[in-house]
Amino acid sequence: ASEAEEHDLVIIGGGVAGYVAAIRAGQEGLKTACIEKRGKLGGTCLNVGCIPSKSLLNNSHLYHQILHDTKKRGIEVGDVKLNLEQMMNAKDTSVDGLTKGIEFLFKKNGVDYVKGTGAFVDQNTVKVNLNDGGEQVLRGKNIIIATGSEATPFPGLNIDEKRIITSTGALSLKEVPKKMVVIGGGIIGLEMASVWSRLGSEVTVVEFLSQIGGPGMDAEIAKQAQKILSKQGIKFKTGTKVTKGDDSGATVALSVESAKGGKEETLDADVVLVAIGRRPYTEGLALENIGIEKDERGRLVIDQEYRTKLPHIRVIGDCTFGPMLAHKAEEEAVAAIEYIKKGYGHVNYGVIPSVMYTHPEVSWVGQNEAEVKASGVKYRVGTFPFSANSRAKTNLDTEGLVKFIADAETDRILGVHIIGANAGEMIAEAALALEYGASCEDVARTCHAHPTLAEAFKEAAMATYSKAIHF
Ligand code: FAD
Ligand code: NAI
Repeated sequence: ASEAEEHDLVIIGGGVAGYVAAIRAGQEGLKTACIEKRGKLGGTCLNVGCIPSKSLLNNSHLYHQILHDTKKRGIEVGDVKLNLEQMMNAKDTSVDGLTKGIEFLFKKNGVDYVKGTGAFVDQNTVKVNLNDGGEQVLRGKNIIIATGSEATPFPGLNIDEKRIITSTGALSLKEVPKKMVVIGGGIIGLEMASVWSRLGSEVTVVEFLSQIGGPGMDAEIAKQAQKILSKQGIKFKTGTKVTKGDDSGATVALSVESAKGGKEETLDADVVLVAIGRRPYTEGLALENIGIEKDERGRLVIDQEYRTKLPHIRVIGDCTFGPMLAHKAEEEAVAAIEYIKKGYGHVNYGVIPSVMYTHPEVSWVGQNEAEVKASGVKYRVGTFPFSANSRAKTNLDTEGLVKFIADAETDRILGVHIIGANAGEMIAEAALALEYGASCEDVARTCHAHPTLAEAFKEAAMATYSKAIHF
C-alpha cells in the first residue's frame, strides 16, 4: 500500500452532492480529494438520472409533437421516422459534455479526482481500491460521505436491465417495447412512461395509492395530470398492487389486484419498469470500522450541520434525510463546506422545488393543500387556468393551471402548484417568493411581461385575495 496522503477534506462519491462540495471546497482553499468509482463524475443525476431522462423527454416530446401536433399549426410534414439509436446518441452527447465539464472544474479548482471505491479504515483514513488496479490511502481532517442512492428492488422480480428494468435500463432500451408495465406512478414512473409511450409503446402504470405523482404532489394537480396523461395514451391502474411476477415466459406476467384486496388480474409486458422509489446506497464503505449509524430506512444519521456522531464526518445528498433531488444535494454541499470552513451554513428545507418533466410539466414548492389543511392554518386558494392565458393560447398549449395557497390572515404564500408547459421554469419565481416570505399581493403587484405564461402565475396570486382579471 502507498503512503497516506493528507487532505483537509476527503469526499466519497462524485455525484451532485460530492462534486459540488469538492468544487466549493477547492474554491475555499481546502486541499480536497473526491473519490468516485463510476469512472465518470456527476453521479446518478448526470449519468443515469436527471440529464439523460431530460434529453429523452425533450426529444420524444418533439417527435410526438411532429407526429400529432403540427397540422393544425400549418406545418405539414411527411415521412416522420424514429431513429432510436440516434436519439440515444444525442442523450449520450449531452451526458458526456457535462461529465467532462466537471472534470475540467475539478482541475480548475485544484481538486484531486481519485477514480476508485473508497472504504473506511478508521475515522480519518479512507482506502481506495483504484479502478485501474492497486490502492491509494487518503487521510482527511474532514470527510464527507456522498454515496447517493439506488433503485429499490421489487421482491421476486430479478432486475436484468433488459426485460425487468429500473430507470437505468429505461434510459437505454435498444428498441421500443410493444407493451410496457411501470410499477410505481411516481416521478420516475411518469417521466419514463411518457418517453416510451410517445415513442410508440403501449404503457400501463400500476400505482398502489389512489393518486399518482409520488409524495408531495397536490391532489388536485395530480388528478389533472392523470387526466391529461391518460388522454396521451398512458393507461393507469391506481389503487392497485402487484402481487407477483413471472419472467419465465416470452413476456413477463404480472399478477395485480386492488390494493384493498380482491380479484386478481394478469398483465403481460415485454418490459417491466420497477419505479417504486429509491433507497440510500452505502454498500462497501466499511462503516462498521467507524461505527456511524443508519436509521430504519438505511439513511445515515446526521445532525443539523450534517455531522454524524463523529463530528468531522459529514453526510449529504441522497444517502441521508430529505428529498432525493439533485438541487437539494447541491444546496447541502455548499452548506456543508460553509460549516467546515466558517462554522455556519444554511439550507431552507421548506423551499425545495419539485418538478416532473412530463408534458405538461408539474411543479410545486412549499406545502400542498392537504398539508396546509392538516396544519390547521386558515387558508385561501387562488387558481388561474392556462386556457385563459394569452401566451398559452398562441402556443396552442393551454392545458393546466397555477394554484396558490396562502395564509388567510396574513396573505403569506404557503405553497404554489403548477401544471402546464414550462411549469418547471416558472416555479423558480415561486421559490424566490417563498424564500423571501412574500404575500400573494407582493407577487400580484409585481409587473409581469406580456404575453408570457408567467402572467398566469401573477393572476393566480391575485385570485387568492381579489379576482383575476382575465378569468
Ligand atoms: P448520486 O448522484 O447517486 O452520486 C453518488 C455517487 O457516489 C455515485 O456516482 C456512486 O458511483 C458514488 N459512490 C458510491 N459509493 C462509493 C464508494 N464507496 N466509493 C466511491 N464512489 C462511490 N433529481 C432532480 O433534482 N431532478 C431530476 O430531474 C431528477 N431526475 C432523475 C431521474 C432519474 C431516472 C433518477 C434515478 C434520479 C433523478 N433525480 C433527479 C435524482 C438525482 O439524480 C439525485 O437526487 C442526485 O443524483 C443525488 O446526488 P448524490 O450526489 O447524493 O448521489
Ligand atoms: P417515488 O417515491 O417518486 O414514487 C414511487 C411510487 O411508487 C409512489 O407513488 C408509490 O406509492 C408507488 N409504489 C410503491 N410501492 C409500490 C408497489 N409495490 N406497487 C405499486 N406502486 C408502488 O419514487 P420514484 O418514482 O422511483 O423516484 C425516486 C426518486 O427519484 C424520486 O422521489 C425523486 O426524488 C427522484 N427523481 C426526481 C425526478 C425529478 O425531480 N424530475 C425524476 C426522477 C426521479
